[in-house]
Amino acid sequence: MGAAAPGITVVDHPVLAHRVTALRDTRTDRDTFRQLVGEITHFLVYEALRDLGTGEVVIDTPVADGVVACRVTENVLVVPVLRAGLGMVQAVQEVVPLTEVAHVGLRRDESTLRSEVYLNRLPRDLDGRRVLVCDPMVATGGSLVQVCDLVRARGAKEMIALCIIASEPGIAVFRAAHPSVRMLCAAVDPTLNDVGYIVPGLGDAGDRLFGPLD
Ligand code: PRP
Ligand code: URA
Repeated sequence: MGAAAPGITVVDHPVLAHRVTALRDTRTDRDTFRQLVGEITHFLVYEALRDLGTGEVVIDTPVADGVVACRVTENVLVVPVLRAGLGMVQAVQEVVPLTEVAHVGLRRDESTLRSEVYLNRLPRDLDGRRVLVCDPMVATGGSLVQVCDLVRARGAKEMIALCIIASEPGIAVFRAAHPSVRMLCAAVDPTLNDVGYIVPGLGDAGDRLFGPLD
């Protein structure tokens, strides 16, 4: 496990790197891309929630009665950032029991690179909750900062950002705005091009998952 900056964990494993390579490749078709996003998310969320809240339960197995065992008791709120974050939700639900999901939609203006919120379905009160913000791409960092601002404003106890590729400049912007929020990603890329895409990146994650918009 590497740390690109304090609080940023780069989940570093050959099987993950193999999948990120396939995700980046222009030859990867939409169905395979969607499947890879899910598989990568499985690994990221497993690492992110090692400290997931648990409690004791007493069960009977076929060979022993009254066995004290562990089960998840914490109810994490998953916040996918539309559109691309939607591609991560099912994978989180497959790994983590008891999750709830609340959607936030942002659109990045491709000329100014500033993001605008067009949907906010966060619960009014997030007091005491842990929130997992899912967005595969952190480019300028602006979208993730805005979403974490919205979540914080509702009183969440803790946020974790789950991303697939984060740029170095995006990480710096995010760190400055939300120094206490942990981020896990599968890769850190050095830079952005002159139209705000991560380089080498993987292109437009929303388009590759769901198809291009006009
Ligand atoms: C992408 C991506 C992030 C954002 C990252 O969304 O999913 O939300 O860009 O860019 P930033 O770090 O510079 O803010 P986009 O606005 O393209 O929307 P989409 O997922 O609906 O295609
Ligand atoms: N959004 C994406 O989907 N990809 C980028 O490279 C930058 C923003």
